[in-house]
Amino acid sequence: MEPLADDQLNRVYSPILSPLAWDLGHIANFEELWLVQRVGGLEPMRGELGRLYDAIENPRKIRNELPILRGDELRSYMAEVRERTLEVLSGIELSYADDPLLAGGFIYEMLLAHEHQHNETMLQLLQMVDGYEPVRVDESVAAEPVSEGPEMVTVEAGEYEIGADAGGFAYDNERPRHTVELQAFEIDRTPVTNAAFAEFVADTGAEPPMYWERDGGRWVTTQFGDRRPLDPALPVVHVDWNKADAFARWAGKRLPTEFEWEAAATGADRDRANLDQLGFGCAPAGAYGDAPSDCGAVQMLGDVWEWTSSDFLAYPGFAAFPYPEYSEVFFGDEYKVLRGGAWATRTSVIRNSFRNWDLPQRSQIFSGIRCVRDL
Ligand SMILES: [Fe+2]
Repeated sequence: MEPLADDQLNRVYSPILSPLAWDLGHIANFEELWLVQRVGGLEPMRGELGRLYDAIENPRKIRNELPILRGDELRSYMAEVRERTLEVLSGIELSYADDPLLAGGFIYEMLLAHEHQHNETMLQLLQMVDGYEPVRVDESVAAEPVSEGPEMVTVEAGEYEIGADAGGFAYDNERPRHTVELQAFEIDRTPVTNAAFAEFVADTGAEPPMYWERDGGRWVTTQFGDRRPLDPALPVVHVDWNKADAFARWAGKRLPTEFEWEAAATGADRDRANLDQLGFGCAPAGAYGDAPSDCGAVQMLGDVWEWTSSDFLAYPGFAAFPYPEYSEVFFGDEYKVLRGGAWATRTSVIRNSFRNWDLPQRSQIFSGIRCVRDL
């Protein structure tokens, strides 16, 4: 946020994204709600403020009309909340807690994850800010060497454990861990590239991804108002589910189920992946070849979220925790599951069992494709 002026924080760039000032106030208010009011037992710091930052009560398209905090008032509220949170934290003992919210520091993990997930949402909007320049970019991320290998690798038939086990932090929708039986399949070793997607567009007349524009006979990308020739070696990103599904069929393949994806990701290492907004873009398809998952696939974590064919549903034995509005209200056939995280995802957020979900027409997210084929 550092390079942005207040008018940019308060501007509406897209009806499907909040003004950044709302996200910032919401992050602080959510922290106040759980870590100051709920854990600390303290009164609300600014009266009824919480109503403005309730994500369910206030849909994105109306958020800029609300009397939300802006400018210096917003910044001082954020600082005051963090100070109060740390005061409360210094007075509690997490290791002996009976309260399931406190046990193992669950609620603190949840609040960190919440803030980090909003970092990614805010970055979706930053891509629409003309002339935006990140404070720091790690050039080594895009310079990762590209590994050679087969187009597809094999995942054997068998029983696979899916989901998060009972220990440690995970969201309710990742639990309980359970066994699924899978047939053998092949999965693309790398995410689908811009080159392959451009071929699909040329062949079928399909709509290009978000942020692609024609410039004479070639494609350019337009994130941050910066027009650059499309790099054919990078994973394709900003494709919606419908285009991802059509691409897979065109290629004679299909999208994986989320269980197939999770089985193929076994052994992936989030510490050797393009995550955490470090490179401010994707590494080429085939990078991180020294850190494949057990089946030999690379970049299962990081670079681009990968669409699956699965609807966002409860696992057998699901129990909402700590509140139904995190996952339960979204279960059904309206949303498709994405897996694996993107370059814009904070490292702490992602793990093999993490389930992201979105509407099939959405493309402002950092979404890409990896296909499978039955064996
Ligand atoms: Fe939120």
